[in-house]
Amino acid sequence: MGPNITTFVMFGFVQTSIMAVEFDKGVVVGADSRTTTGAYIANRVTDKLTKVTDKIYCCRSGSAADTQAIADIVSYHLDFYENETGEPPRVEMAANVFRELCYNYRDSLTAGIIVAGWDKRKGGQVYTVPIGGMCVRQSISIGGSGSTYVYGFVDANYKVGMKKEECLSFVTNTLALAMSRDGSSGGVVRLGCITEAGVDRHVITGGDLPRFYEG
Ligand SMILES: *[C@@H]1O[C@H](CO)[C@@H](O)[C@H](O)[C@H]1NC(C)=O
Repeated sequence: MGPNITTFVMFGFVQTSIMAVEFDKGVVVGADSRTTTGAYIANRVTDKLTKVTDKIYCCRSGSAADTQAIADIVSYHLDFYENETGEPPRVEMAANVFRELCYNYRDSLTAGIIVAGWDKRKGGQVYTVPIGGMCVRQSISIGGSGSTYVYGFVDANYKVGMKKEECLSFVTNTLALAMSRDGSSGGVVRLGCITEAGVDRHVITGGDLPRFYEG
């Protein structure tokens, strides 16, 4: 059974705010939910946090079609690997499969991806695979058009080894700030917390989003 191609969005830019952070017991991933075709919002409740394996997720930015296709293909490869070896694939390996595809097809893809998850060997890990197909581990990664507004906030507020709740509110605050400045980001904040125990998902809707200065 090959990758599922029936759900591809044909046009649509996930012109996004995405984020992933390592904390003491795992990783938190987060994203806004807006997909645009030009000035039109094609989907206001997009899920840009895409499951790759039970304990590995990716955050997608760029072309919705490209990133959905890549995520499906990587997911298929890792499922096959797990069937063959009986071992759950490690986060680093998943990130490198993304990197391989994004690098080899760099001239035809618009895809900026953050790969994040938990494995026995290295615990919570975040890998950034930007447009062009490099792969680098970072303890925190932000991406998409909205991220350009919040580098200073992240530098000022990130701390090594945060607790889960602290990390969730840091990601929520960062994304809320990015979404309020970036016209291409918006909707709800989607969060995922990945630990040894698995994945916990949350949604924070408009009224519950933190508010900051709106001058
Ligand atoms: C892995 O095994 C499951 C269960 O037997 C099967 O449904 C799935 O298609 C297999 N995946 C691959 C990529 O072969």
